Amino acid sequence: MILVTGGAGFIGSNFVLDWIAATGEPVVNLDKLTYAGNLANLAALAADDRHRFVRGDLCDAALLERLFAEHRPRAVVHFAAESHVDRSIHGPAAFVQTNVVGTFTLLEAARTWWQGLEGAAREDFRFLHVSTDEVYGTLGESDPPFTEATAYAPNSPYSASKAGSDHLVRAYHHTYGLPAVTTNCSNNYGPYQFPEKLIPLTIANALEGKALPVYGDGRQVRDWLYVADHCEAIRLVLERGRPGETYNVGGDSERRNLEVVHGICDALQSVRPRAGGYRGLVAFVADRPGHDRRYAIDARKIRGELGWNPRESFDSGLAKTVRWYLDHGEWVARVRSGEYRQWVETNYASRSAA
Ligand code: NAD
Ligand code: TYD
Repeated sequence: MILVTGGAGFIGSNFVLDWIAATGEPVVNLDKLTYAGNLANLAALAADDRHRFVRGDLCDAALLERLFAEHRPRAVVHFAAESHVDRSIHGPAAFVQTNVVGTFTLLEAARTWWQGLEGAAREDFRFLHVSTDEVYGTLGESDPPFTEATAYAPNSPYSASKAGSDHLVRAYHHTYGLPAVTTNCSNNYGPYQFPEKLIPLTIANALEGKALPVYGDGRQVRDWLYVADHCEAIRLVLERGRPGETYNVGGDSERRNLEVVHGICDALQSVRPRAGGYRGLVAFVADRPGHDRRYAIDARKIRGELGWNPRESFDSGLAKTVRWYLDHGEWVARVRSGEYRQWVETNYASRSAA
């Protein structure tokens, strides 16, 4: 079986669902269930004994040691993290704790486990670290996209903590020989994404007729990838990626934020028409401090070496995503209660419309 961390979050839950459907191999899923973790994402596996859920913290070394001994995983796929840039600006401590200390604790447990293995089990063991393109910092409008050789220049507490975790993973390979691989992926979107991130926030607000907050001038660029394509890339890297290597993953779908928001408005208008349309809900608000202007990924390495190609275009992925949120109003309503309201107050109250 494999050990997945953070498998109740957005990408992790998509991965676990896809993994069990595609491979049938059992998963032990360690997740702390922070505000971002949601067992409802895994409801389809409730009665499936190929999925074992363990609620716990990445920073709990004794728990990790027990999990390795009990489940004897052949691989680790490490998603668990604090993942939202705006939250990292308001409260960076949790990012250092989970992303740096948590990854360190997991690496130590994995190293101890792996060093006790012999023969093929030791040879074949893999530690896959799921990271982000944000570690590379920001690009100018005409700069070439990030490659695996781009120097790290993280700009937010989130990206700095992810960069720290990437460096630890690299060091554990270099120093101890731990067979680790890292993926650095661009912005994901799709089912089960918590509506604090741009795309689900825009869909959820639009459906309620609320303002659609666009930071600054809305001309910042992100390179969007549908989550199932990311999950497939991770499966391929786990199977055939070379230990010690990093792989950039991205969908060649650079879009300005305002284009993304308008695209959502238009997609919604075609399936759930609103008098006067949705675009009029756009509200320009104060910019994010230290806001990275542009991310773009050069994914030639994973395409050439592993034959990976995204299946969804941005338009097809966005249409699927809008459909999913329309069909899952209850899921959205549940995650938008409680702590979420507090977050909206914290993040948006001080950003009066610009
Ligand atoms: P998410 O915030 O939706 O989910 C994170 C999960 O980790 C949650 O289920 C949470 O409960 C769990 N978690 C947090 N702290 C924990 C701890 N201390 N111990 C155990 N579990 C803990 O995040 P996501 O968007 O699914 O991202 C998953 C991974 O992919 C992250 O490492 C992130 O940096 C990376 N990534 C995300 C994107 C993106 O666009 N979302 C892009 C590239 C890379
Ligand atoms: P986000 O989804 O938070 O991802 P990231 O910061 O990791 O790229 O934001 C995507 C882009 O959308 C980013 O440039 C910030 C912008 N944004 C808004 O304009 N308004 C919002 O309310 C949010 C959450 C993000």
